[in-house]
Amino acid sequence: MPVSGQTVCVTGAGGFLASWMVKLLLERGYTVKGTVRNPDDPKNAHLKELEGAKERLILCKADLLDYESLKEAIKEEQMVEPAVNGTKYVINAAAEAKVRRVVFTSSIGAVYMDPNRGPDVVVDESCWSDLEFCKNTKNWYCYGKAVAEQAAWEVSKEKGVDLVVVNPVLVLGTMLQATVNASIVHILKYLTGSAKTYANSVQAYVHVRDVALAHILVFETPSASGRYLCAESVLHRGEVVEILAKFFPEYPIPLKCSDEKNPRVQPYKFANQKLKDLGLEFTPVKQCLYDTVKSLQEKGVLQVPTQKKDSIHIQS
Ligand SMILES: NC(=O)c1ccc[n+]([C@@H]2O[C@H](COP(=O)([O-])OP(=O)(O)OC[C@H]3O[C@@H](n4cnc5c(N)ncnc54)[C@H](OP(=O)(O)O)[C@@H]3O)[C@@H](O)[C@H]2O)c1
Repeated sequence: MPVSGQTVCVTGAGGFLASWMVKLLLERGYTVKGTVRNPDDPKNAHLKELEGAKERLILCKADLLDYESLKEAIKEEQMVEPAVNGTKYVINAAAEAKVRRVVFTSSIGAVYMDPNRGPDVVVDESCWSDLEFCKNTKNWYCYGKAVAEQAAWEVSKEKGVDLVVVNPVLVLGTMLQATVNASIVHILKYLTGSAKTYANSVQAYVHVRDVALAHILVFETPSASGRYLCAESVLHRGEVVEILAKFFPEYPIPLKCSDEKNPRVQPYKFANQKLKDLGLEFTPVKQCLYDTVKSLQEKGVLQVPTQKKDSIHIQS
């Protein structure tokens, strides 16, 4: 069992996903070196409140694009979760420090954006997004994630670094940090009234706690290797708004599709067995959606509507 005395370095520690990694690592007894661009920024304050943080969390200032500060932060430690443009620097710094293993957060964006894949093909760890297609369609997110992951594999091979990659789909769930990140906005827009319709498209989802745990499991399992798709299920937007409307009927959730002409886009199939084999039990997507909204309410981002008098009357 882990792991008193072992240190793990988590880059971008104040982010949505990384905050959960820090939390779970501290709970497991690790000492955590978290890099943030500004340790004094109040947006990183939640990290210091985590259980065990006082004793075992060291926040270091590091910009992933500044090699010297990274070297200082990593030294002889292991590391988890670098960000896109700093990939090569991170792997180089990890090689220099002779870390045991680097776990790199890539994305489904590096995996599934391929127009030539048939509808029945199961998306698994062998798939790569088509770079030309991403470029032509100006899908810079998928392009960037695919190029960054390729760079991670190339540099780690060259430098002899033990690299394992996690490819999460869209991450939802409880926010530890104070500010709302991009993947949570994906849901927030359906609750505020800003989205009047929903798109005719599909999206795969996973809980942030599961993604953090996936990183830790591949870090802790010596035999873990290659890529790990981290996904619970694929939903059409119509299913997302239906679930939200059932849980939270008090919000102006759009129930009309913006595309009434074309048939409903079908979900793609994916494989998540590699992570299940490591013992990960994925949180059902309904719970992901529920936790996201509850978290937005708790953070005060989303107002909790007061019950109307007559609705209370009807219930009594
Ligand atoms: N959320 C998702 O749905 C999802 C899905 C698949 C993959 N991912 C990947 O998972 C990773 C984390 O995502 P997230 O949703 O947790 O994002 P997030 O909340 O926006 O966090 C990103 C973190 O990266 C840090 N960062 C950015 N540029 C940096 C730089 N130059 N030097 C140092 N730190 C830097 C940010 O620090 P500051 O606070 O200083 O800006 C922030 O802490 C990303 O690589 C993302 O592509 C996310």
